[in-house]
Amino acid sequence: MTSEVVVATIAETRGVTREFRSGGGSVRALRGVDLRIRPGEFVALRGRSGSGKTTLLNILIGLDNPTEGQVLILERDLAKMSESERARLRRESIGMMFQNAHLFPSLTAQENVEIPLRLGRMQSAQRTRQAREALEQVGLGKRAHHRGLELSGGEQQRVALARALVHQPRFIVADEPTGNLDSLTGRDITKLLSDICHTNKIGMLIATHDATLVAMADRVAIIQDGRIAE
Ligand SMILES: Nc1ncnc2c1ncn2[C@@H]1O[C@H](COP(=O)(O)OP(=O)(O)O)[C@@H](O)[C@H]1O
Ligand SMILES: [Mg+2]
Repeated sequence: MTSEVVVATIAETRGVTREFRSGGGSVRALRGVDLRIRPGEFVALRGRSGSGKTTLLNILIGLDNPTEGQVLILERDLAKMSESERARLRRESIGMMFQNAHLFPSLTAQENVEIPLRLGRMQSAQRTRQAREALEQVGLGKRAHHRGLELSGGEQQRVALARALVHQPRFIVADEPTGNLDSLTGRDITKLLSDICHTNKIGMLIATHDATLVAMADRVAIIQDGRIAE
C-alpha cells in the first residue's frame, strides 16, 4: 500500500501549466508552477480570487490534468498511472477539505466520517473504530452521535477534517477551509490542521486568503497570475 512507503516528498509539481479553452478564447490559469511539499509541512497557498489556487489543487489530486508539466504524489508520476490507480491513490493516501463541510445533515458525525471507508472493503467494526479515532483527534469524540444539522459551523468543519483523516492519508489539500468561519473558529481549525500535520507527518497544502492561517503556516507559497513566488 502507498501509505507505507517512506518518501522525502509528498507532492511536487514541475513546470505545471493549465490552459482552459472555451469557444474561441483560452485562459492560462497556471503558467509554470514548481512546488514541493514535504512530510509534516503545513504550506499555505495564498492568492487572490482567480489566481489559480483551485486549479492547482485539482491537478495535485489528479482530478484535472496539466496542459504541460509533471505532477508527482508520493514520488509517483500521475501521468504514468491509470485512472483507477489515481482513484485508489486518492482513496488511500489523499484527504480533501473544502470551504463547506458538505456533510449529510441527517447522518451522525460518526456516519459522515465513515463514508470514505465504505468505498473500500473494510469490516464494519474496524470502520467504526477508525471513525471514532478520527473524531477524537479533532476533539469531537463526544459529538459522534449528533447529526450534521445539530452541529455548529466549526464543529461541521471538524467533522469534515475527521472525514479527511479517517483513512490516514499522507497528503491533505484544503480549499479555503476557514473561508466560511468566524475568525476565532477559523483559528481553532487552523491550529488543529497544523498540529495534526506535524504530529502525523502529513503534507498539507491549504489554499487561503485568511491572514491567520497564513501566519501559522510553515511556508507560504504566493500564487499570482498562475505563477508561484515564495
Ligand atoms: N473549468 C474552467 N474553464 C475555464 N476557465 C476556468 C476553469 N476553471 C478555472 N478557470 C479560470 O482559471 C482561473 C483560475 O481559477 P481558479 O483556479 O478557480 O482560481 P482561485 O481558486 O484562485 O480563485 C480563473 O481565471 C478562472 O476563471
Ligand atoms: Mg478557488
